[in-house]
Amino acid sequence: MKTILIQTKKELIDYKDSLPKDSIIGLVPTMGALHNGHKSLIECSRKKDTQTIVSIFVNPTQFGENEDFSKYPRDLNKDFKLCEENGVAVVFAPNPTEMYPKDDEISLRPPKNMGYTHEGFIREGHFDGVLRIVLKLLHLSTPHHAYFGEKDAQQLLIIKRLIQDTFLKTKIIPCPTQRDIDGLALSSRNIYLSKEERLEALKIPTALKKIAEAVQKGELKTSILIELAKIELENLNVEYLDICDHDLNPIAYIQKNSSIALIAAKVGKTRLLDNLWL
Ligand code: PAF
Repeated sequence: MKTILIQTKKELIDYKDSLPKDSIIGLVPTMGALHNGHKSLIECSRKKDTQTIVSIFVNPTQFGENEDFSKYPRDLNKDFKLCEENGVAVVFAPNPTEMYPKDDEISLRPPKNMGYTHEGFIREGHFDGVLRIVLKLLHLSTPHHAYFGEKDAQQLLIIKRLIQDTFLKTKIIPCPTQRDIDGLALSSRNIYLSKEERLEALKIPTALKKIAEAVQKGELKTSILIELAKIELENLNVEYLDICDHDLNPIAYIQKNSSIALIAAKVGKTRLLDNLWL
């Protein structure tokens, strides 16, 4: 199958209309700078779907004024090649005016309790922007399945709520976080890290590992687990370290399969996120 590059809404709709009725469409929404984490989302889709659409769009509305929107890594040729090599049917790479033809448009807000804590607290308006673009992408590609990494845990949980609250039919498929051999969670922003910073960054997965090991041994009290992680994160600029339920409410004790440990830390100028689904 040859990968097609599509840059307009009309072409994407025409493409979908041209597909056989029994096609199963999978959407992998990305902002490009594709790495093995994205590749694993594509592979999940290739197993389940007859057509995989990868969207590549650095979404301006989810970046704050002082964030890295203009600096965010962009290399469409390289990304397209990765998609071609992995059997993607369509790369949808629109420009900003295609996705946001009007300056002033309908806005969307995440639920109060889960949208304005953690990432939503530090990055004001971030999830409003994520919801706007994801809803548009879902409407344009009407996928049976849409794939999101567990690494962006809060995003994944909020997008699941988007589906529930707006009665969309797409099934959200969470995919496990991919890590480098040193344990660092894959992220497009890892390229900003110097060698020394990368070593510092490894404190994050180590802290999460400490939590996982303690839970395995039967420690369920979150205040104790947080203290254990804090020791590993010493001297790191930690923005939050928290253990919550899936609505992002803090909890006193871990409840198996419905708890999550979240860490955000700044290493040099780079913000890194990681988490552990418990
Ligand atoms: O996770 C991302 O890369 C982005 O937030 C997403 C879901 C593609 C929306 O722009």
